[in-house]
Amino acid sequence: MLQRSNIVSPEEELQDFYEELRAQHVTPAWISGGVGVEPKSKAVPYVWHWCDLRPQAMRAAQLVGTEQAERRVLRLHNPELEGSSASNTLVANIQIVMPGEIARAHRHSPSALRFIIEGSGGYTVVNGARIPMFPGDLVLTPNWTWHDHANDTDAPMIWLDGLDTPLVRMLEAGFYEQYGEEAQPVGEGSDPSLAKYGVGGLRPVWEPAPTARYSPLWHYPLSQARVALERLAAEGAGSPFDGVILEYTNPLTGGPTMPTIACYIQLLQPGEHTQAHRQVCCTNYHVIEGSGYSLVGGRQLDWEDKDVFTVPTWTFHEHVNAGNRPAFLFSFTDAPVMKALDLYREEAQG
Ligand SMILES: [Fe+2]
Repeated sequence: MLQRSNIVSPEEELQDFYEELRAQHVTPAWISGGVGVEPKSKAVPYVWHWCDLRPQAMRAAQLVGTEQAERRVLRLHNPELEGSSASNTLVANIQIVMPGEIARAHRHSPSALRFIIEGSGGYTVVNGARIPMFPGDLVLTPNWTWHDHANDTDAPMIWLDGLDTPLVRMLEAGFYEQYGEEAQPVGEGSDPSLAKYGVGGLRPVWEPAPTARYSPLWHYPLSQARVALERLAAEGAGSPFDGVILEYTNPLTGGPTMPTIACYIQLLQPGEHTQAHRQVCCTNYHVIEGSGYSLVGGRQLDWEDKDVFTVPTWTFHEHVNAGNRPAFLFSFTDAPVMKALDLYREEAQG
């Protein structure tokens, strides 16, 4: 009969064997751990409060120029992660551009999003297309697109940066290039990607359909998203786990904004307490407005306007709008990566 073999060796002989293997850069798999029964993130649930972040962003603006810093960015780092990122695969950073400043043009293989927190009417140029930036707007600077930022207003501009740099670094796929000039020439139109692709289901016919995997729409104004959320809320629609939640999509495919990052906006009604669930994806949240808390893996994260918090992968979370006004949350996740690799799962608690 065939059976598992039972070989008992003296400990000393085993240790000699392992030592020899180590010297040859070989590891015996049976003593080095395998795949766990389920994901256990090194990251922990955590919240960064705007009342702490904003003064430090202003201080950074006093101490460091955009000549010294390619990007004047404060990285929010998860207390338990070795790198300086909010979550395992995605960073959530705070960037500030002061009146009269530019952040020069460059491009990189990590994909990025900007979610505007403060300031009205500065702009980002993406591959020559001007994109105005207003509070609550989502702006994309996808993989390998040239982008520079400019603040031609008289007030600071501050936004949340979301990038997949930890993922790209882990995959050893990072490229970076400096543009030949400080800033790109700005092409025609005040907001051309929105003009072409900003109305669902309609596409300009005089140009071929874009073939890039990322969305050709690079500007998702809050005004449009808010109307859609409020219309659905009035209908009583929504998810028991997330309230009224909408995904920002690539208008050509209905898929995520970018191949590595999905973006969402959700409305929680006053007093709403959602049911707990968890997914195989890490999620970084930004509180557009509202006050409440989220219970994440047994921790309570209290949040209010403009705070940022992170939910590690496969961690149960539920949201509570403790205020008397609707709460609006923006979030971004690495779910498209998990789905592309057949690694995505989700589960309700209980
Ligand atoms: Fe960049």
